[in-house]
Amino acid sequence: MQEYIIKSEIGSSRILVGESLGNVKKYLPHNRVIIITDENVSSLFKDKFPGFPVITIGTGEKSKTIDTVSEITDEFIRLGVDRGSFILGIGGGVVCDITGFAASIFMRGLSFGYVSTTLLSQVDASVGGKTGVNYRGYKNMLGSFRQPEFVLCDTDMLKTLPEQDYRSGFAEVVKHGVIKDRELFNYLSNHLDEIENREISFLTKVVSNSIKIKAGVVRKDPTEQGYRRILNFGHTFGHAIESVFGLTHGESVSLGMIIASDISVKNGLLNKKEAGQIKKLLSDLNLIDQTKHDYARLASVIGKDKKKG
Ligand SMILES: NC(=O)c1ccc[n+]([C@@H]2O[C@H](COP(=O)([O-])OP(=O)(O)OC[C@H]3O[C@@H](n4cnc5c(N)ncnc54)[C@H](O)[C@@H]3O)[C@@H](O)[C@H]2O)c1
Repeated sequence: MQEYIIKSEIGSSRILVGESLGNVKKYLPHNRVIIITDENVSSLFKDKFPGFPVITIGTGEKSKTIDTVSEITDEFIRLGVDRGSFILGIGGGVVCDITGFAASIFMRGLSFGYVSTTLLSQVDASVGGKTGVNYRGYKNMLGSFRQPEFVLCDTDMLKTLPEQDYRSGFAEVVKHGVIKDRELFNYLSNHLDEIENREISFLTKVVSNSIKIKAGVVRKDPTEQGYRRILNFGHTFGHAIESVFGLTHGESVSLGMIIASDISVKNGLLNKKEAGQIKKLLSDLNLIDQTKHDYARLASVIGKDKKKG
């Protein structure tokens, strides 16, 4: 197991990579715990959850709303949650973002932690203290900066991920490689078989390296005053694509990275060869299936969106 600590003005967070869900009780500060999970994670792993009350939300981006936070709040009140309670999110990026947000606003803030169950949330969403929900079609419009006390990344749980969600997580790993770590980028390019076979030791290394990069950035700029924006590579376009086309977060960010790379080439900030390498790796990872997406429509929607802003 590997451990990373993020200490910052928005709290301190302990990240445990390669630890198992069965050991989560060791990290809970006391016994007044409420679990938040989604329907899929519950049906696969509920037997391994520690024995505390469970709030189960719907799955996917459509559940990442203020209405879900309102339902969670009703459950908190019914269960007698107070400032001494601890909230544990067990799930992917959607569960983590909602858990962190609900915990950060209930009674002006409760302690919380995550068991992160998707590749995308292990390498990115659960780390760094950004919480939030979508609002009236706008991505992450409501949210807060607040660190989870701990994030447990059980890489064994990645075995059950549907293929599309598994692949989606690699978009954020590619992003980390592009912005900060050429070695990580090359490592992915040279290990496509391990990716295909979901080799646990390989995935544990990829999760660890990604967290190292994200933690390094977050420590320097926890509330995104400037430097942390480097992590948004591909996300400006990606969020618009995700909202309009309903692709997965990783697929949307992949398309966003390609658009951002093309713009960078036009502005002399990236050479054509490197832009081609980014495109090739995302294509090898099945993240930018040309036949599936209508690029002309994408361009027109993003264009219209910009004019409105
Ligand atoms: N807070 C941040 O810094 C940050 C960063 C990146 C992304 N995000 C957010 O993360 C979200 C995407 O996260 P995601 O890709 O994890 O999506 P997700 O949480 O919707 O999970 C994807 C699917 O996998 C299922 N699932 C989860 N764990 C599973 C497992 N172990 N086995 C089988 N199925 C499992 C879920 O039920 C869901 O259907 C987006 O809302 C995005 O905005 C947040």
